[in-house]
Amino acid sequence: MLSEKTVLIGITGGIAAYKICELIRMFKRHNANVRVICTPNAMNFVTKLTLQNLSQNEVGIEEFEIPDFKPEHISYADEADIMVIAPATANTVAKIANGICDNLLTSVVSAFKKPVIIAPAMNCNMWENPIIQENIQKLYKHGYEIVEPEAGFLACGYNGTGRLASLDKIFDKTVEILNSKKKLAGKKIVITAGGTIEDIDPVRYISNYSSGKMGLALADEAHKLGAETILITTKDVQKSYKIIKVKSASEMQTAVENEFNNADCVIMAAAVADYRVKNHSEQKIKKTDSDTITLELVKNPDILKELCAKKTTQIVVGFCAESENLIENAKEKIQKKGCDYLIANDISRKDIGFSSDYNEVIILDKNGGQKRLEKASKNEIARQILEVIYE
Ligand code: CTP
Repeated sequence: MLSEKTVLIGITGGIAAYKICELIRMFKRHNANVRVICTPNAMNFVTKLTLQNLSQNEVGIEEFEIPDFKPEHISYADEADIMVIAPATANTVAKIANGICDNLLTSVVSAFKKPVIIAPAMNCNMWENPIIQENIQKLYKHGYEIVEPEAGFLACGYNGTGRLASLDKIFDKTVEILNSKKKLAGKKIVITAGGTIEDIDPVRYISNYSSGKMGLALADEAHKLGAETILITTKDVQKSYKIIKVKSASEMQTAVENEFNNADCVIMAAAVADYRVKNHSEQKIKKTDSDTITLELVKNPDILKELCAKKTTQIVVGFCAESENLIENAKEKIQKKGCDYLIANDISRKDIGFSSDYNEVIILDKNGGQKRLEKASKNEIARQILEVIYE
């Protein structure tokens, strides 16, 4: 299954390091070439001899160890198809998130241009620490694959979330990425993200709380799967795929329409303002003696509905943000808009949706089908949405 693939395993200094011996065997059983590098602290938990015997390769620990014409960290990074860091301690997670390269493993990961899977494992209080969570989110943002730790009895005696994810999960994720990396090659996917901004005057505007994270996650995942990805967003982002920055609903509509004709799929994850100010002022509106002020609003075009009306071969996907009666409203909306899929999410919940890094959605299709995606990171939800669309 994995012949001709090289899996680079990075082991850091956590008690779960001993489990990685079995992970190496799993990859070897599937004919992968396995390279192993460890942080010096990992050697407190496993021996070099064990890892060498299991991987049938030299194990790298210290930098500048093996004399070579190419710096060692670059050789490791060039050779492998995927890197799996397991267990990843809070310390190594923090170093990677902040670009620190003070040992062989962190130097290799910083030079690694192919997919990297990180499976953290630590005490539950450490896992919940907001600084550590911030580092994890930063890794997600930069496209790292995280196999999050599981809840259960921890080696330190605590009960909580922090235990290394099961080896099956880490193995399956690796195989999935190696085998499905380019599933969307040749497809052009256009995604919108963020809340539109409708000017009132040069200093004030109407907008909404959309963070743009769900659309960004969809674009990241589509890009990883090999699609020609275009993200039309109201937020500032820099990516290796095409970003078109827009502000208002009308700018967003122009940008989407310019990309629509030769697109294979359009996903409208943006929170488009339904109304804009009728005559927005070129000058700052001054305060008057009156206690009230009236703004006249006019309806914005419904971008999604208009795309659905003129689509030919394109798959058009809408989002549906509801604070009540999620399913009923979503069923009505998919009919009204005429889209192929509608992703419904409940914005009344604080733990998912707007601004959160997590989501839980129900995918409705035009034939009346429904599929619930359980709470997961927005990147994981994005991956599953793309899987449903391109099943
Ligand atoms: N949408 C759009 N143009 C608009 C409003 C919404 O393209 N002017 C798209 C959104 O990007 C989303 C879908 O329509 O994919 C549903 O958006 P939502 O805000 O849930 O619904 P609305 O149509 O705005 O209806 P309501 O606000 O009444 O729920």
